[in-house]
Amino acid sequence: MIVFGHGSPDARLMFVGEGPGKDEDLQGKPFVGRAGKLLTKLLGALDIRREDIFITNIVKCRPPSNRLPLPNESSTCIKLLDAQLKIIRPDVVCALGSCAAKTLLEKEIKITKERGKIFKRGTTTIIPTLHPAYILRNPKEMDKIFQDIQAAHKLIQNK
Ligand code: URA
Repeated sequence: MIVFGHGSPDARLMFVGEGPGKDEDLQGKPFVGRAGKLLTKLLGALDIRREDIFITNIVKCRPPSNRLPLPNESSTCIKLLDAQLKIIRPDVVCALGSCAAKTLLEKEIKITKERGKIFKRGTTTIIPTLHPAYILRNPKEMDKIFQDIQAAHKLIQNK
């Protein structure tokens, strides 16, 4: 199934992941599997409701066998994401994981080094952070993603 995204068209905070996994493919909604449940939990701890934000992915269809999106898939789908950014006009986008961060920033970055920093894509502020699926495998890193989402949330509150 095509997973375009889900949430509020008035969202000031947007989250962008890599691409739909098995659960997302079945339900047509982003981040509804294990990684999504962790994301929802982190958001809840900051009093952020999923219906007030917008969540989408770099690629809108599940890559076969959960492989990373290929460069030509990301570069095709970024046009859709740019259209979503133009319509929703969020103040801050949190890029979840290396694939989303590199695609949105159009450069090679080391996510562990650049996470939590503020970047721009045109006029949109981008904060890269670790992917929730990585946190499931490395729970000791939980405070990092929490801090970055908190920083993104603080930014929209100060706008
Ligand atoms: N991982 C992603 O990057 N996106 C989803 O929608 C689900 C898991």
